[in-house]
Amino acid sequence: MLFKLTDEQLMIQNMVREFSRKVIAATAAERDKTKKFPAGNFKQMGELGLMGMMIPEEYGGEAADAVSYVLALSEIAYSCASTSVVMSVQNSIVCESFNHFGTKEQKQKYLLPLASGEWIGAFALTEPDAGSDPVSQETTAVKDGDEWVINGTKRFITTGKHSKVVLVTAKTDEARKHKGISCFIVPKGTPGLIVGHMEDKMGLRASDTTDLIFENCRVPDSLMLGKEGDGFKIAMSGLDSGRIGIAAQSYGVAMAAFDAAVKYAKKRKQFGVAISKHQAIRFQIADMATQIEAAKQLIFSAASLKDRGESYTREASIAKLFASEMVNQVTARAIQIHGGYGFTKDYPVERFYRDARVFTIYEGTSEIQRIVISNHVLRDKRKP
Ligand code: CAA
Repeated sequence: MLFKLTDEQLMIQNMVREFSRKVIAATAAERDKTKKFPAGNFKQMGELGLMGMMIPEEYGGEAADAVSYVLALSEIAYSCASTSVVMSVQNSIVCESFNHFGTKEQKQKYLLPLASGEWIGAFALTEPDAGSDPVSQETTAVKDGDEWVINGTKRFITTGKHSKVVLVTAKTDEARKHKGISCFIVPKGTPGLIVGHMEDKMGLRASDTTDLIFENCRVPDSLMLGKEGDGFKIAMSGLDSGRIGIAAQSYGVAMAAFDAAVKYAKKRKQFGVAISKHQAIRFQIADMATQIEAAKQLIFSAASLKDRGESYTREASIAKLFASEMVNQVTARAIQIHGGYGFTKDYPVERFYRDARVFTIYEGTSEIQRIVISNHVLRDKRKP
């Protein structure tokens, strides 16, 4: 499917591109060294409407379509992947979960400040012993009068430290397996919610990834998101949207690596000519361009299905699988084209390579995407 963007989509893309390359890119390499969370950038991104793009205006969002969202997210990722993962989690699994499952009161109180970018949120699903298999999670929530008492440890939580509010899943009925998992809204500052160990990561270094520990953490019944037992469904549907986001993030980083590689290949001379004249390099550039283009079409396809209100679980997984594997190959090739210089911190491609590594892992590994895709192919009528 060949895409023609609307004037509005092009306007959003251009606006975010200009902002991203001027503001976000300026400090991205420095952030990678210092691991400093770019709070000021997120404030500006909130003002530009980038922190709750697909949320209705009455709840602080922009009511943008998913195609505009992936365009914006990939422009941010082009400049700084750390910034883009925070934007991705915020827009998809945090804001959209509130939007689809929240009550009016919950949306007014929590979604409004989130979508307008005043607050950043986190989604806590993964645990030390429950990653790909979230149904095996051990966090519990036990009813006590009109309160729930949450106990357990969540791991690898994006924006665990800097978030103002956390959506956490917990078992409310062990026997019912995935139907016995519920989701709770836990504002930071709630007694018993402790920010634990912060990971020291290979990439995405300016985005904090932490443990969140719940120790007899009490929340009122009114802070359950959705109904009792909806937690797994909330996580899975949020991840559908999140996976399109990770694919868009992959596309953005791949484009950054590709542009850097082309620029270098045109400038660098060996054997008397620019290395872009050598077939060995030209063919690599052609392969990179082909892979990136294919990923872009898959991302637009999944986003368009979402915009049309159709089921897009399978397409989101296909886009995520292909784009995240693609960016790992493209960033590796960009380093290869740079030769020894690519291995140094004098050129940005080593950062792109490190940042991209987690894209085949978080929000569902490539292996999990293959499970989702094959389940759909084998169970559903719809074939590729
Ligand atoms: N939307 C809504 N509901 C869904 C759904 C979806 N996309 N996918 C499944 N469900 C529902 C099904 O309808 C079914 O419900 P019923 O029993 O009521 O019919 C139920 O969930 C179970 O479905 P399946 O039998 O298809 O589930 P499964 O056990 O075969 O597969 C899985 C589940 C796909 C493997 C799933 O466990 C999964 O996606 N695992 C990976 C988890 C993951 O991505 N973790 C990343 C965490 S977030 C992160 O990375 C950090 C970050 O912040 C960036």
